[in-house]
Amino acid sequence: MGGRRGRRLPAEPVEIAIERLSHEGRGIGYHDGRTAFVQGALPGETVLADIKRRRRRQEEGAAVAVTAAAAAERVEAPCPHFGICGGCSLQHLDTAAQVAHKQSALAELLAHTGNVSPDAWLAPVTGPTAGYRRRARLGVKYVPRKGDRVLVGFRERFSPFVADIDSCHVLDARVAAVLPALATLVRGLSIPDRIAQIEVAAGDHEVGLVFRNLRPLSADDRNALIAFGDAHSFLMFEQPGNESTVAPLGHERMRLHYELPDFGLEFAFAPTDFTQVNAAINRQMVPLALDLLGLEPGQRVLDLFCGLGNFTLPIAQRAGDVIGLEAAEPLVERGRENAQRNGIANARFEAADLTRVAPDAEWLGGQVDRVLLDPPRSGAEDVLPAIAGLAPERIVYVSCGPATLARDAGALVHTHGYRLERAGVMDMFPHTGHAEAIALFTRH
Ligand SMILES: C[S@@+](CC[C@H](N)C(=O)[O-])C[C@H]1O[C@@H](n2cnc3c(N)ncnc32)[C@H](O)[C@@H]1O
Repeated sequence: MGGRRGRRLPAEPVEIAIERLSHEGRGIGYHDGRTAFVQGALPGETVLADIKRRRRRQEEGAAVAVTAAAAAERVEAPCPHFGICGGCSLQHLDTAAQVAHKQSALAELLAHTGNVSPDAWLAPVTGPTAGYRRRARLGVKYVPRKGDRVLVGFRERFSPFVADIDSCHVLDARVAAVLPALATLVRGLSIPDRIAQIEVAAGDHEVGLVFRNLRPLSADDRNALIAFGDAHSFLMFEQPGNESTVAPLGHERMRLHYELPDFGLEFAFAPTDFTQVNAAINRQMVPLALDLLGLEPGQRVLDLFCGLGNFTLPIAQRAGDVIGLEAAEPLVERGRENAQRNGIANARFEAADLTRVAPDAEWLGGQVDRVLLDPPRSGAEDVLPAIAGLAPERIVYVSCGPATLARDAGALVHTHGYRLERAGVMDMFPHTGHAEAIALFTRH
């Protein structure tokens, strides 16, 4: 074992008994002295697995058949491309069981990484499991050898190739419906091999499509893209260089919009700005975070990693004043713009890199009653000492990386004297291995 020969991939699928699910939803079993991570396999099942990668102690593969004891939670995947397309990994698992698994994975991470457990679990936040995905980067590949076609879709599982899909179960239905038409559109351009990706940015009423063109578009290309946009009511954009080069095609609008109706708020965003992927979950997540913060008039609040103000503006409606801190300048500008368009005067947005907090940062001065954190997957480790120094009574932590939430929860509890009162999962990314979580920390 362990030599070069031992790492050769088995020519035929191998039988593996699955013992448990990994945090991101792969079946774990043992084969040939290695731990095997098997996509599409569930605990209790014995599966035939096609091994795709092998290392000294681990191998990875995908189930091609269940040979014994199909799990009770196993369901028929709703999408015909499941198993080949790498966009989803859990469609074979009942959606309620997906959520339960994400909660138990979070509990395990909190216990093992952070050595903490919440006083109580929040009910999971769930929403539609189909057509929820408002943001996506669709790969584009010109394949002259495969019938001179263009493929538009997610990458294949276990390969860098773009999957050959004509529908998508999770993508916003307005875009999923036109995947084949998008491929035909790109095929008809003068540079079908120079479109690197199409970025999807959907709002409540508009859908933006950003074509990353590696070479300039011809006049005919522009006309074709504009006509497509008109026919499908999409806002079309080209992106010849970095994000600052995104420009509208056939229209003048650089903003899309989404609403939080419970708060009477409308947010404007540029097609490459960060927005939450799942609108139905976002509409539940924001009021939940505010309830957990326990806001009262007059309180001073910090919203860290605030983006374009998704939490900041609702907080401003219930608190005395709020400061939103965010590294990306365009999002800071968008926060200000959104405060203004919604007539909110008690929210301030400042640019700050929260991995490097200067001890004399202005926002560290004065009383802070509540802190909301919504960091990227890497977490908020570097900013925790500064926050703890402000001693807010409550901290609400929203996370798309349960492992870093667990790490940071450990620090808040064991180093900074907070208590983990509540934790819960939110089904922001159904059918994928990703999980969104929320936690309330209090100081007594
Ligand atoms: C998960 S998003 C949350 C955005 C916002 N709260 C929302 O709900 O739309 C994380 C945000 O953190 C920002 N960010 C990433 N690294 C950062 C850093 N080092 N300092 C400050 N902000 C950062 C990103 O630009 C992004 O807007």
